[in-house]
Amino acid sequence: MTAQVRWGVLGTANIAAHAFLPAMRAAGGVATAVGSRDPERSAAWASDNEVGRATTYGDVLAADDVDAVYIAVPNDQHVEWAARAAATGKAVVCEKPLGLNLAEVDDLLDRAGDALLWEAFVFPFHPQTALLRRLCSPGGPIGGAREIISEFHFRVTHPDNNRWQAAQGGGALLDVGCYPIRLARLLFDADAAVRVAATSATTPDGVDAEFAAVLDFPGEQRLLFSVGMRRCPSTYTRILGDTGELRVSNPFHPTDGDTVELWQDGERSEVWAADPAPAFQHAAQHVADVVRGATRPRHLASTDARGNAATLDMARAAVPA
Ligand SMILES: NC(=O)c1ccc[n+]([C@@H]2O[C@H](COP(=O)([O-])OP(=O)(O)OC[C@H]3O[C@@H](n4cnc5c(N)ncnc54)[C@H](OP(=O)(O)O)[C@@H]3O)[C@@H](O)[C@H]2O)c1
Repeated sequence: MTAQVRWGVLGTANIAAHAFLPAMRAAGGVATAVGSRDPERSAAWASDNEVGRATTYGDVLAADDVDAVYIAVPNDQHVEWAARAAATGKAVVCEKPLGLNLAEVDDLLDRAGDALLWEAFVFPFHPQTALLRRLCSPGGPIGGAREIISEFHFRVTHPDNNRWQAAQGGGALLDVGCYPIRLARLLFDADAAVRVAATSATTPDGVDAEFAAVLDFPGEQRLLFSVGMRRCPSTYTRILGDTGELRVSNPFHPTDGDTVELWQDGERSEVWAADPAPAFQHAAQHVADVVRGATRPRHLASTDARGNAATLDMARAAVPA
């Protein structure tokens, strides 16, 4: 094992170019290879993004100079490529949602065994989330988190984008609804919701453009979320307790300019600025530390992914026909 963790990327994806690679490099890693279905596209992508070489998905997985694999292909292909990657013994970070439903996630976890496999939610590793957890503790300034009101809206303008394709696992619930669910499970310390009411706006192709839901968690804790792919961007989130509330500009990908505000009795009493580092950096650093044997893995898919998939299934099933 070299001191520098060597990454291979599956898919010449936007998220890999704009979020993963800069953060992985900031965490001290290097990208040795990118795999693609198309040699011309991957050669150009490798050159534009300073990745060592362009090759196929299979060659990335077989490569001796790849310690960890980042998978950024459309949602319907996550399980297959994550299972193949996990079988190589390399560390694997697969984009969210890990599977299209709980049955797929269970199949993947079964095939992956005790592999180092993470679903690519990065905020559990972010210092802002550690701050939220501290502020939400029962003795903390908001008197414990009882309700989360969260949105994740943005515009997906290109009709060919995989988010608009039913066959590729598109739709707002899977693409962005998974974030507030992950946040609520983390802050409520709960595995999954116990009851869900939901509604959605669906295209003629059966893709949910917008999705909203009320989810009950154990202990009378509640998540209300609204997500979608055709409104102006917002990740604004309120976390409410008996004695105060937190207003969070971006709980999912905090970066320069994002804040957490503490409000008590109608007054803003404190403000924290987010770490300006790339939002993916802390997660990339964690994986690198695990690969080097410097720390024990946290938030592996084997412990964290089932509850998200189960809650997504409940939300989907709760939409009236
Ligand atoms: N964690 C996060 O914050 C975050 C943010 C955005 C997106 N994501 C996730 O990342 C994944 C990629 O999203 P993206 O927006 O970056 O997608 P994208 O730019 O469209 O990239 C997807 C890549 O998948 C590969 N691919 C394989 N089969 C394909 C097919 N049949 N059609 C289209 N592409 C195919 C393509 O690479 P080749 O042609 O080179 O093989 C393509 O470049 C999704 O699962 C998404 O949910 C996560």
